[in-house]
Amino acid sequence: MNAQVNYDVLVIGSGAAGLTLALHLSAKYRVALLSKQRLQDGSTWFAQGGIAAVLDEMDSVESHIADTLDAGAGLCHPSSVRFTVEESTAAIRWLIDQGVDFTREGEDYHLTKEGGHSHRRIIHSADATGRAVHSSLLVKVLNSPNIDCFEHHVAIDLIRQPDPQKGRFRCAGAYVLNKTTEDVELLQAKAVILATGGASKAYLYTSNPDGASGDGIAMAWRAGCRVANMEFNQFHPTCLYHPKAKAFLITEALRGEGAQLKLPDGSRFMERFDKRGELAPRDIVARAIDHEMKRLGADCLYLDISHKDPAFVREHFPTVYSNCLKYGIDMTKEPIPVVPAAHYTCGGIMVDQHGRTDLDQLYAIGETTFTGLHGANRLASNSLLECLVYARSAALHIDEHLDSVQAPRKAPEWDASRVTDSDEDVVISHNWDELRRFMWDYVGIVRTRKRLLRAQHRVKLLQREILEFYANYRITNDLVELRNLALVSELIIRSALDRRESRGLHYSLDYPGLRELAMDTVLVPENYANQRQFI
Ligand code: FAD
Ligand code: SIN
Repeated sequence: MNAQVNYDVLVIGSGAAGLTLALHLSAKYRVALLSKQRLQDGSTWFAQGGIAAVLDEMDSVESHIADTLDAGAGLCHPSSVRFTVEESTAAIRWLIDQGVDFTREGEDYHLTKEGGHSHRRIIHSADATGRAVHSSLLVKVLNSPNIDCFEHHVAIDLIRQPDPQKGRFRCAGAYVLNKTTEDVELLQAKAVILATGGASKAYLYTSNPDGASGDGIAMAWRAGCRVANMEFNQFHPTCLYHPKAKAFLITEALRGEGAQLKLPDGSRFMERFDKRGELAPRDIVARAIDHEMKRLGADCLYLDISHKDPAFVREHFPTVYSNCLKYGIDMTKEPIPVVPAAHYTCGGIMVDQHGRTDLDQLYAIGETTFTGLHGANRLASNSLLECLVYARSAALHIDEHLDSVQAPRKAPEWDASRVTDSDEDVVISHNWDELRRFMWDYVGIVRTRKRLLRAQHRVKLLQREILEFYANYRITNDLVELRNLALVSELIIRSALDRRESRGLHYSLDYPGLRELAMDTVLVPENYANQRQFI
């Protein structure tokens, strides 16, 4: 990479959000697109169920809005919900134009159902929708002469510069660790976009791939941006329970097509928790499973679709079917052992409808953001939709304004003169394990104030150690991720302590009731970027 201001736009992240934004801008601007692993390695590639959109004539925008608001437990921002849902049909049309091959039923597209949806409105590509979307967009990106992709490049921190014209700070690029050369490079651009995905790796058990360490949220916070609703961590009710299976999701679409949740004795239980049964919103189902597992002392519960036609199951769920078979489970004949796992970060960097953050020239899109769409609990399959809609909206805003934005001043090179190579990498892996374990035990599906305070104490101790490591040793990918995960965990715990009620995904035994007034939890950093600090 050339350490010069030679890009108009720097996109950090190559999931659905980053690829979509890059494609919308590539006709006119020079774009650098970063991924800290391979370009395919974010959550997008693993998305199974599909994308929620109003596509059936029996369905309506109002119904999709109502379902989103209902799942969000009083905390969705109605304007963000309306904006996203109204753009849903166009977003799917755009994907089809990019070559995404969605599953058909005769002439029409097949629409499936998931928890909390009152209509069939999930367009999908069998049970590997993320792979279909990502691979189609990636072909376009790789063929675009205006987009340069950098794999194995980890953004460490954003660069903040005073903008004398505006009397505010602006974003001027990022310091980036090139994992191949192990050098830290300076990359500057007129506009920087965080599309870095979620933070579910903060938890010991998760459906997410390894890179989901909340880097964007941590970088934005350190650069002076507000974050909101970090206490709402969504746990997916059904991940495969098998000692050898790492992070494998069993899509909710299975329940949409009739799969039943069962106790170890084969009886059903969801009706006791919600009249919508298996298709209640995710927070309710995950809590019900957690409750029953604790009550029975069970290691897992079961998801059963063996009563359906085996050919239908194999055709609609080839990925889940073949993966289960690898572990000796034939889902056409027997129930699948399942447990809940951390799945989605509903809160994040506060942005407006154009993806603008508190720092000028810094945008954020996708799972790393808080747009107001999800409220206290995301409705299934609304997240890929949010990636597509906000990526386009941010691209339109950048396109309208970038010509009038000055290139940033050259920032200082990264100073590595005072650091040495660490001979104590075990400290990083130990801290990483400890953090994820206490987040799971103390900040999980059911919370208490005492456990949250215990977690807060532990995370502060860890942060002190990490800071010392960061100041004295050469930077590595693991250290970047651990530092970010610790910060994001601190923000999650702070937000959970602030919320003295039980709402959506945040359930506290100390505060089981719902407060009358629904309020976002907004955290403001000490170096808040929106203040006129230097004039
Ligand atoms: P991601 O796709 O996670 O991409 C993040 C990118 O950022 C990656 O390229 C990563 O390398 C890069 N990155 C991160 N940090 C850095 C850094 N410091 N420097 C450089 N690069 C960085 N949602 C639905 O709507 N429907 C579904 O059916 C569905 N199924 C799911 C199934 C699974 C197993 C999972 C895990 C999630 C699922 N979700 C689903 C959620 C959805 O997939 C994600 O919310 C969405 O894909 C996030 O996209 P994104 O572009 O924001 O981030
Ligand atoms: C799933 O397929 O169950 C995941 C859907 C989602 O996370 O939106």
